[in-house]
Amino acid sequence: ALAGPASKPLAGKRAIVTAGPTVEPIDPVRVIANRSSGKQGYAIAAALEALGADVVLVSGPTALTAPAGVRRVSVETAHEMLMACEAALPADVAVCVAAVADWRPASVGETKLKKGAGGPPTLTLVENPDILATLSKDQRRPRLVVGFAAETHDVEVHARAKLQTKGCDWIVANDVSVAGTMGGDDNAVAIVTHAGIERWERMSKGEVARRLAARIAEELP
Ligand code: CTP
Ligand code: CA
Repeated sequence: ALAGPASKPLAGKRAIVTAGPTVEPIDPVRVIANRSSGKQGYAIAAALEALGADVVLVSGPTALTAPAGVRRVSVETAHEMLMACEAALPADVAVCVAAVADWRPASVGETKLKKGAGGPPTLTLVENPDILATLSKDQRRPRLVVGFAAETHDVEVHARAKLQTKGCDWIVANDVSVAGTMGGDDNAVAIVTHAGIERWERMSKGEVARRLAARIAEELP
């Protein structure tokens, strides 16, 4: 491959970034969703693009504008997010930042459920596909697959376990028990790899994104 200039070390490389929440319909007017502003994922997409990568940003609903130069594919459900990621393969790197809903209602009402004498409905949930794990074992697996783990406790223990169960290369572990992290502008992360752990000081989500993009560029020959 042609090497890009020093300022564009990811020129010619393809990246997939998932971001934002997924929303899973209960009926035409109600959803189950995760909390996610999408800020960290969008910042990573922008940082990869700034280093020259060709970026597909697969995003659940957010209030954010797509970064310049990034191709955004808007989705709602985890299933749609997985389909969009697979359609974006092959890629050199996948960074799964989305807060994917772990479960969806087993059946979706065709019409609005009404309150009534029957009392509240009981929702039966089924597990959603795991996009990070699926990409990690895909025949066209990107060379580098990076996941995030938002934890409220025992952050590194859970991150290390996820590295194994997902089959990815790195987990960016994120302590969301720190006030202001969810929806906020700062992040305190540690990069857990098969080689060890690297703790980064608390910094803005933009700075986390730029440092992560630089690390990705180092990793991809
Ligand atoms: N992830 C995914 N698809 C899912 C669930 C999670 O791609 N259906 C990805 C997230 O984008 C993140 C990583 O997996 O990169 C870890 O997500 P997390 O919710 O922390 O892990 P889970 O395996 O869902 O475990 P739990 O929520 O029980 O902690
Ligand atoms: Ca989860």
